[in-house]
Amino acid sequence: MARRENAIPRGLSHATPLYIAKAEGAVIEDVDGNCFLDFAGGIGCLNVGHRPPTILGAVEDQLKRHLHLCFMVTPYESYVRLAEKLNSLAPGSFPKKTLILTTGAEAVENAVKIARAYTKRPAIICFEDAFHGRTLLTMSLTSKTDPYKAGFGPFASEVYRIPYAYLYRGGNSATAESVAHHLEDAFKRVVAPESVAAVIAEPVLGEGGFVVPPRDYFRAIHKICRKHGILLMADEVQSGIARTGKWFASEHFGIEPDLITTAKSLGGCAPGSKNPRASFHLSKNCVISTARSFTTAKLRSGSRRSRSPSPATSLTRVRQVQRGRPFTTMAQEPHMPTRQAKR
Ligand SMILES: Cc1ncc(COP(=O)(O)O)c(C=O)c1O
Repeated sequence: MARRENAIPRGLSHATPLYIAKAEGAVIEDVDGNCFLDFAGGIGCLNVGHRPPTILGAVEDQLKRHLHLCFMVTPYESYVRLAEKLNSLAPGSFPKKTLILTTGAEAVENAVKIARAYTKRPAIICFEDAFHGRTLLTMSLTSKTDPYKAGFGPFASEVYRIPYAYLYRGGNSATAESVAHHLEDAFKRVVAPESVAAVIAEPVLGEGGFVVPPRDYFRAIHKICRKHGILLMADEVQSGIARTGKWFASEHFGIEPDLITTAKSLGGCAPGSKNPRASFHLSKNCVISTARSFTTAKLRSGSRRSRSPSPATSLTRVRQVQRGRPFTTMAQEPHMPTRQAKR
């Protein structure tokens, strides 16, 4: 801990004082040999558990082929295959396209760029209690002040916030329709609908308290968006990839969002090399599924995005979740670490 204090900024706080030596399935083992059930999963990133053999196999296979190719310079097939797979899984029977990036925040940033370029409008409406990331734009979209925003302003402009459908806080008379009405109210009070490119919402609030809106809520929101030519953007970075029992939480609400961002459980592996100069990290693959045919030609990717192993391991993850084995448990996995005596 003392070395950590000296070498790493305080801003990167951690929830437990554990230092992990290894992890398999649902169990993590600390440097003292204590084993713990991991209920955090790297904050919702490990639907298939730590190091399942299928993922290790996919990583190993990819390591033998190629490690880093910038898709903008030299494309490769697994990127296309992952995009096709996600397009087929995302809600809506219309043509879709997928862009693979590196983090959830980057996916949200790019979704906002797409919405602005497509609608030629500047404003974004987001929600109270929302979390969309820690970069300047996504921190501006994020609601919670402390610890995410305090001291980090000024924030990005053209971001407007309305209350979320949190019926518990809305009084007895609150309904899906009445809370959706906050959106129409915003058009009268804070921003003209003709200036709004998109409404961005987490279908189920994650960091903001795991709030599930009433079933009709997003249909009402989408109807208002359609009336004004505004796009509905579902941030499924946390709720996507079967974390609510369906591939995308949007499906529970019967909506087909215009843009979906998803990440976390799609990537969730971080192979690294012992040689720091050669090390690379694939923390979370991120995808923007542009549900309609938006023009994305001017979108720039980047040289470190969508590294070769990302699509390969993500495809394996999707297959594993699809086979109905989203969680690897101690009982299922023969390769689980046995409990070590405390040293
Ligand atoms: C809903 C949502 N959007 C965006 C993000 C940002 O993702 P990342 O941490 O990969 O940048 C998160 C992260 O927790 C999230 O829960």
